[in-house]
Amino acid sequence: MKIEIQFLDFEPLSRDKINTLRSSLKRAFEILKIPERGFTIVFTSDAKIREYNRFFLNRDYPTNVLAFKSDDRSKYLGEIIISVERAEEESKVYNLSFEAYLLALTVHGLLHLLGYDHERGLYSPWLMLKNEIDLIRGIFPDEELIKFLQRREFMPAKLAVNVDHVATVREARKTYYPDPVHAAVLAELGGADGIVVHLRLDRRHINERDVKIIREITKTKLILEMANTPELIKFAKEIRPYQVTLVPERVEEITTEGGLELEGRVEEIKKAVKELNRVGIKVSLFLNPEEKVLELAKKTGAQIVELHTGKYAEAKGEEEVIEELARLERASHLARDLGFIVHAGHGLNYENIGPVAAIPEVEEFSIGHSIIGRSIMVGMKEAVREMKELILRARG
Ligand code: PXP
Repeated sequence: MKIEIQFLDFEPLSRDKINTLRSSLKRAFEILKIPERGFTIVFTSDAKIREYNRFFLNRDYPTNVLAFKSDDRSKYLGEIIISVERAEEESKVYNLSFEAYLLALTVHGLLHLLGYDHERGLYSPWLMLKNEIDLIRGIFPDEELIKFLQRREFMPAKLAVNVDHVATVREARKTYYPDPVHAAVLAELGGADGIVVHLRLDRRHINERDVKIIREITKTKLILEMANTPELIKFAKEIRPYQVTLVPERVEEITTEGGLELEGRVEEIKKAVKELNRVGIKVSLFLNPEEKVLELAKKTGAQIVELHTGKYAEAKGEEEVIEELARLERASHLARDLGFIVHAGHGLNYENIGPVAAIPEVEEFSIGHSIIGRSIMVGMKEAVREMKELILRARG
């Protein structure tokens, strides 16, 4: 197997480091039980990787690793580009050995060349991370690195766009426009990874017709937010969205005020989760970012938790913002350790998204009001594209 190593715009790494890397990568093929194939690793600077990122992927910022597959991968897999500058900086921030971190980035790139893709498909992120951890265990068992990988995926977070407020404008005049169905299509064209609708008990914006049509036309996934009532559970089972997010609901509230109250309600929620799971619908619980709540949530069998970011969004002054952010970070770690897929949402906008989007455990953000508000000015596609870029950028 020929692993070609090039240095572009950067000082060569020591012979020892290169030899360790080469032998570790050879071992990776043995562990994956696939024939060895050649590929190139280019070590470079932040400035150069940014050029690549901009030129090939239209992302105007530096990143740690990029991978470009060749057309005929039966012979030559392609190129992995790594910014050594970024690798050094990040290894310090994460308190990891530089060698270990560099290897992790290379393995990540190699898996991309082999066809794994954490940015596409429903299960590939988990599969990719699992392979990454298994490989690192087999070739360079650095405990700190393994713990780090278990906590963090090199995965851009997803954006699910809530189109409720397009229907709010329609309902203001009880007419037939603007149509949230059109908004859903445009949001997907702008890069949304999912469409969210909240079928409220008073049907003040989204109605059954909207949910049914959006379910039919979405190319990504439909997330139905709803209260846990027999009528809505029956409706969800008929419609079969990809996911149901259970939320608390008071008819007189302006928007969802807090997370689900689980104290004394575990059995009731568990029953709903079971019923929805039985027909293939994943269930998310909208929860306040608190330890006790998350531990109770574990007993319900739900797969996903959406952490309520409302308090963070409303926090006044730097101190309060930092406090709320730390609360979200702690809750995200705990939720992930408990085995949940972690989502977050509520009150997030173009100004406050950055710090929460940088929490690595959060895999998806559910955002509505700010995107619909901005779409009035710049159009739906552009409003979604801008939010997605802010989320991606926060991950580095
Ligand atoms: N997540 C949940 C569970 C919600 O109920 C809402 C509001 O409908 C959102 C996210 C989106 O909140 P916002 O409209 O403030 O972005």
